[in-house]
Amino acid sequence: MKHIVIQGGTDGMGRATGLACLERGDAVTVVGRDEGKGKSFLSAAAELGVQERASFIRADLSLISENERVITEVKNAYPAVDALVLCARHYLSRRRETAEGHEATFALFYLSRYLLCHGLRDLLEKAEQPVILNVAGPGSPVGEIHWDDLEFTRGYDGLVAQMQAGKANDLLGAAFADKHAADRTRYVLINPGSVSTSFSGEYDAATQRHIDMMKRVAKPVAAGIVPIVEALYAPPAEPLSALVEGRPMSVRDKSFDLHDARRLDECTRELLSR
Ligand SMILES: NC(=O)c1ccc[n+]([C@@H]2O[C@H](COP(=O)([O-])OP(=O)(O)OC[C@H]3O[C@@H](n4cnc5c(N)ncnc54)[C@H](OP(=O)(O)O)[C@@H]3O)[C@@H](O)[C@H]2O)c1
Repeated sequence: MKHIVIQGGTDGMGRATGLACLERGDAVTVVGRDEGKGKSFLSAAAELGVQERASFIRADLSLISENERVITEVKNAYPAVDALVLCARHYLSRRRETAEGHEATFALFYLSRYLLCHGLRDLLEKAEQPVILNVAGPGSPVGEIHWDDLEFTRGYDGLVAQMQAGKANDLLGAAFADKHAADRTRYVLINPGSVSTSFSGEYDAATQRHIDMMKRVAKPVAAGIVPIVEALYAPPAEPLSALVEGRPMSVRDKSFDLHDARRLDECTRELLSR
């Protein structure tokens, strides 16, 4: 039986992936902020008759301290983690700082993933065929790292912040796979395409109209999770891979530039050590 941890597993593709894994006979821990959504996941597990294999950790993952608590709880509960699925995001049209003083999009969509990947690495290494599935935006033609102002103290824009975090996740994958190339854990970046989910976020009126339209035309969640579940049960052989709507893309693309990846890794370690 695999043990799977899903960051942002209380809604959208994270939740659906969790239920699919429970149906296959595995154990799933979902992490999210919302108590009601967490209970709803546990009820769905009970309806499947597998409640003993489902668990929920309530946490606000935009906080570094909460990621550290989650890592400790998972380490105390399980001897190994077979798959870490990264799905948490929350769009913010207006800039917000967390109680720890970090810009919230950067903190949730990038820092949380950095902390969980590195913090759970030793548990992943204890599994037979471990994999990290970072569901974000590889292959996107837009987005760049704002090296001089990663947390947008000047000129915040919700879309620009989200797109930067997508690029940061590409570089996180590249740096992780480079640093741990000899390890067993495979790192897979997945862009599922447009999928009609909850689109967690706080939107200005114009963005909300766009989101409402996306929800109508995007593919259903059941279709969106197909490449996630496939990669979870049959991880690619290479230390780093990227999939766009199920199709492999080259990790020689500049999105995964090793120089930038090492630079961002160093900036992140410096930022976390403050
Ligand atoms: N949907 C798409 O079209 C699309 C396209 C490309 C890439 N993606 C990527 O796919 C992944 C999953 O997206 P989705 O659309 O399925 O997600 P979603 O329906 O918007 O759900 C987001 C998840 O993140 C959790 N979350 C939000 N803020 C959190 C916080 N501060 N702490 C902990 N958990 C938090 C939510 O749980 P709570 O509400 O319980 O906190 C929820 O489980 C994301 O990384 C997204 O960038 C999605």
